[in-house]
Amino acid sequence: MLRLNEASLGARVTSDDVTQASRASGELLAQVQKGEVCYRGSLGWLHVDEWASVEQLVRIAELASRLRAETDTFVLIGVGGSNNAARAVLRALGQPDPTHQVVWAGNTLSPRALNEMLASLEGHEAVIDCVAKNFETLEPGSSFRLLRQWMSAHMDASQIARRIVCCGTPKSQLEKLCTDEGYAFTTFPPNVGGRFTAFTPVHLLALAYAGIDIHALVQGARDEERRLRQTSARPEDNAALRYAQIRHLAWEEGMRVELLSSFEPCLSGVSLWWQQLFGESEGKGDRGLLPASAQYSEDLHSLGQYVQEGTPLLMETFLDVLEARESDRLVLGGTDVADGFDYLDGMDFWDINKASFHATRAAHARRLPCPTIELERLDEHTLGELLYFFMFSCYLSARLLEVNPFNQPGVEAYKQLMFRTLRGA
Ligand code: PA5
Repeated sequence: MLRLNEASLGARVTSDDVTQASRASGELLAQVQKGEVCYRGSLGWLHVDEWASVEQLVRIAELASRLRAETDTFVLIGVGGSNNAARAVLRALGQPDPTHQVVWAGNTLSPRALNEMLASLEGHEAVIDCVAKNFETLEPGSSFRLLRQWMSAHMDASQIARRIVCCGTPKSQLEKLCTDEGYAFTTFPPNVGGRFTAFTPVHLLALAYAGIDIHALVQGARDEERRLRQTSARPEDNAALRYAQIRHLAWEEGMRVELLSSFEPCLSGVSLWWQQLFGESEGKGDRGLLPASAQYSEDLHSLGQYVQEGTPLLMETFLDVLEARESDRLVLGGTDVADGFDYLDGMDFWDINKASFHATRAAHARRLPCPTIELERLDEHTLGELLYFFMFSCYLSARLLEVNPFNQPGVEAYKQLMFRTLRGA
């Protein structure tokens, strides 16, 4: 079970403050647990089973298994909320099946990166999944065309039709294209915004293809939903509300950045997903903590100095995995050569890494609030818990800030300027 550890919160935001603030926001919690009517069109993720019931998972698994039988590479075209969650899970758990890889496309306009992506497909049997809620975004739209052209150079039209699946909005240009060309088309949940789609077919198809246990992932999310939406519990016992309140109290204390830090580099994808979730949901109306991230221990030798002694604008949330898997164990043997590291003889890197974590948190907590989100271990179930925990907290946190969590009006401004340049208007 996921746990919020507040032992290193420090003096600027205390656990007592968090308890009091949580008690005082019981009414908001009750509204969020139920889902507010004004956000009804964006709350399809709140009840996990709405888009990830057992029947839906079985259908996704069946499609994934047909695609696995015919191909060895799944190209996920998508950007932002349309690819981040799948990438986070696959980076955290590693691609479990070397014979069936997921490749990312539609998240860049760099010709070098696009050429590398195309080169990585040579000699492979690829299936393309174009995920685009609006199908107006430049990156997925241009990559989809590029990949269709790549396919045309490698196979005939009837084969292409079996190798393209799309996920978009009914009546969109993408659906029309699929109908005209005979590609499979699935519906992007109309009542879920991109960054809240972790437990929908948007990401689950790619994950099932890669060999991830999507049933366990979704079960983790369901278990977390049950805990966080339990209306009989006291508000101050709701971990997502407490985390949202820590962020809010930090904001009120003048902090402007939240650093999500971990000593497991494989969690860097989770950090990117979290940055998008909180950044797009809260960064509006001149408000919101800037979500940034650090990968320790490497970043202790760069950002660490700033965190310790730079402008005092930060709070820092640690992600910690409590139990080691077999692949997390590595003992450093002794040596006769004098290298000055005798104190490490026979130690396991798991314990060395943990020592570094505990020392870092103790040092940083002298100055910043440092809550820790603890995962029992790293697997599908705990990742499901974590992603749902963050989505639910984000909804609460944005509401505490009094901003709409589900829109992103600012993103439009650069797009209009770019379209004007590209279309020559
Ligand atoms: O969270 C969001 O809504 C956005 O980040 C979108 O996911 C992102 O802009 C991609 O949009 P689309 O799927 O329409 O291409």
